[in-house]
Amino acid sequence: MQVCFENPAQTRRELIDGLSATQATTSPKFLYDALGSRLFEAITELPEYYPTRTEAAILSANATAMSQAIGTVDTLIDLGAGNCAKALRLIPSLQPSLYVAVDISVGFLEKSLEDVQRQHPCLDVAGIGLDFSSTLALPPDVVRGRPVFFYPGSSIGNFAPEQAETFLASVRRQAVGGGLLIGVDLIKGTEWLEPAYDDALGVTAAFNLNLLLHLNRLIGSDFDPRDWRHVAFFNRDASRIEMHLEARRALLARWPEGQRRFEAGERLHTENSYKYRIETFAALLRSAGFADSRCWIDAKGWFAVFWAQA
Ligand code: AVJ
Repeated sequence: MQVCFENPAQTRRELIDGLSATQATTSPKFLYDALGSRLFEAITELPEYYPTRTEAAILSANATAMSQAIGTVDTLIDLGAGNCAKALRLIPSLQPSLYVAVDISVGFLEKSLEDVQRQHPCLDVAGIGLDFSSTLALPPDVVRGRPVFFYPGSSIGNFAPEQAETFLASVRRQAVGGGLLIGVDLIKGTEWLEPAYDDALGVTAAFNLNLLLHLNRLIGSDFDPRDWRHVAFFNRDASRIEMHLEARRALLARWPEGQRRFEAGERLHTENSYKYRIETFAALLRSAGFADSRCWIDAKGWFAVFWAQA
């Protein structure tokens, strides 16, 4: 398992800058400590959270057509592999000889990869602990032969469209000769979008609030999750779900070198999850330099899986 360490001083700086900004903000990558990864796994099993199961259904219903479109795969690079469940479903039809799983949550990934190796004893497996939220810089020589990148789950939705284009362009450069298989969540009614991010059991609320415990460990702050409320809504103008934590009362958050006052009702913006129209996403792939793309969608038109040749 290769871990590409983040500079802890830089992480600290980034977090404190975000917390101190007029609109307090943290990157969604901080939602994924060990507990956060497990809470996200629980989210994917909720009745309201349609993306994971819709994407899985698209992948299994179209496995043959997809593997025909994709062609030979030597290295399958799984971006944000998490529990590796999605890649495990693809491996039998794509038959890569090397599987490279990349995720920010290293310990979690390590456990997942043990399962992959057990299920596929002849497959070469590599794990990379890497934060690719700003740039995707894979260590040299991890890819051999024809590369196919797999970026499922609509995680691309965490980037604003402009950053998404930059990110996709860097994937394209590293995928030359191969391509990208990517899951994208589509725009739909608020009555379906909002419950997916504010479920009846409160699992997404726990996932969002857990960020505060992670922050406390990372910067030594004293956030109390009990002082905060989970807020999630669809911002139709920006075409994104926004997740926030809202202060239930006026409070002071402290950390060793500083502090931040939050008024009652003031929010910490913790995640954006952009939703696309098929044509808009196809255009984004083109602007990122991909030659041609095709996509598969479910019957409701809720989710799309694109294959784009690099
Ligand atoms: C992992 C970024 C795709 O945006 O749907 C789920 C994260 N946040 N519930 C998403 C998430 C709240 C998820 N992604």
